[in-house]
Amino acid sequence: MATKPLMLPKNASFSSGPCAKRPGWAFGNLDTELLGRSHRSGPAKKKLKELVDLTHRLLGIPADYKIGITPASDTGAVELAMWNLLGAPGIGVDVFAWEQFSWLWLNDIMTELRLPDARAFEAPYGELPDLNMMQPNRDAVFAWNGTTSGARIPDGDAIPAGDKGLRICDATSGVFAYDILWEKLDVVTWSWQKSMGGEAQHGMIVMSPKALQRLQEYRPSWPMPKIFQLRDENGINWPFFDGVTINTPSMMCVADALDSLRWMESIGGLDEVHARINRNAGAVEDWLSQHKSWIDYLPHDPAIRSKTSICLQFVDTAFTGLPAEQQQKKVDKIVSMLEQEKAAYDIKSYKTAPLGLRIWCGGTVDTDNIQAMLPWIEWAYNEVMQG
Ligand SMILES: Cc1ncc(COP(=O)(O)O)c(C=O)c1O
Repeated sequence: MATKPLMLPKNASFSSGPCAKRPGWAFGNLDTELLGRSHRSGPAKKKLKELVDLTHRLLGIPADYKIGITPASDTGAVELAMWNLLGAPGIGVDVFAWEQFSWLWLNDIMTELRLPDARAFEAPYGELPDLNMMQPNRDAVFAWNGTTSGARIPDGDAIPAGDKGLRICDATSGVFAYDILWEKLDVVTWSWQKSMGGEAQHGMIVMSPKALQRLQEYRPSWPMPKIFQLRDENGINWPFFDGVTINTPSMMCVADALDSLRWMESIGGLDEVHARINRNAGAVEDWLSQHKSWIDYLPHDPAIRSKTSICLQFVDTAFTGLPAEQQQKKVDKIVSMLEQEKAAYDIKSYKTAPLGLRIWCGGTVDTDNIQAMLPWIEWAYNEVMQG
């Protein structure tokens, strides 16, 4: 029987989005001089450009790739890409769907855009579809890291190179966490609310020269909502890629995003962010190795386990033998006990994913906090299973 731990994490935020703020974050640190100013004013434009440039540099994005700030978070960025780029004459699309969000993109393609030449490659939660099915001359849409499934693309090698086809990658919980092979990707999207520990409702989009060429040459047949308009009759809206957003951004969120990026730069850039994530994922792995009789990863294959959104399941027969409704109640109870004790907030599995826990281990989380939190899971589990 596990005794009640004595030590609490200093920060109990392990939600997979919005994710924990960076260590040392405080409102007072934000550069708020532009609040109340127009985002089209000279200083605000400079700040937005700084954000775009710093992101470009920190992530090591190739110089000829362009980067812009989108409305509506990562969802806005992915849909903006699909609405602008898919359906080009003679180019079909393949969707690789293995968790909640890539299934949403599949639905967009099949039932909203209704693309006639679309194929779906699917895998259940905790697995990946066969990425080798990507064809050089067909577009491909996929997520890099399944935040809701705890499975991720192991590395860029798994992605076959494209030719005429564009590789559109939703990397929202993968960017800043893994080595993204930019040269193989044409569109990459993410939101500030995940790995950066930023605020929701703003997204980022990166486009390769090939994607920009498609944007320049192809005009989709469907109407384009204002907030997706990346071009007009004269061609591409180039200022968008210098931080001139399509509609009004929150300068508060911009200040917060810059705070996160500057922090990443100050600790040593992407290498140190990756090292932090490796330490975090390692702490969970070390703990799990002592507890595999009752709790384990959702993905069986170690090579595809996410290091950022780690999804766990209760595996002992005392739990798995219970009717589904009781399992649900037990997990709800564990989650609410952890919250009440201030040991862990928001670590229940995603609502459509297999029942269990999900722990965010991104770069803004300190390993000490994960190590302090994990014993509480064992304590709560034992309490609930005895009750
Ligand atoms: C893979 C993936 N794509 C897209 C989203 C949606 O992100 P947002 O709510 O920032 O639009 C999420 C959110 O968890 C996600 O995990």
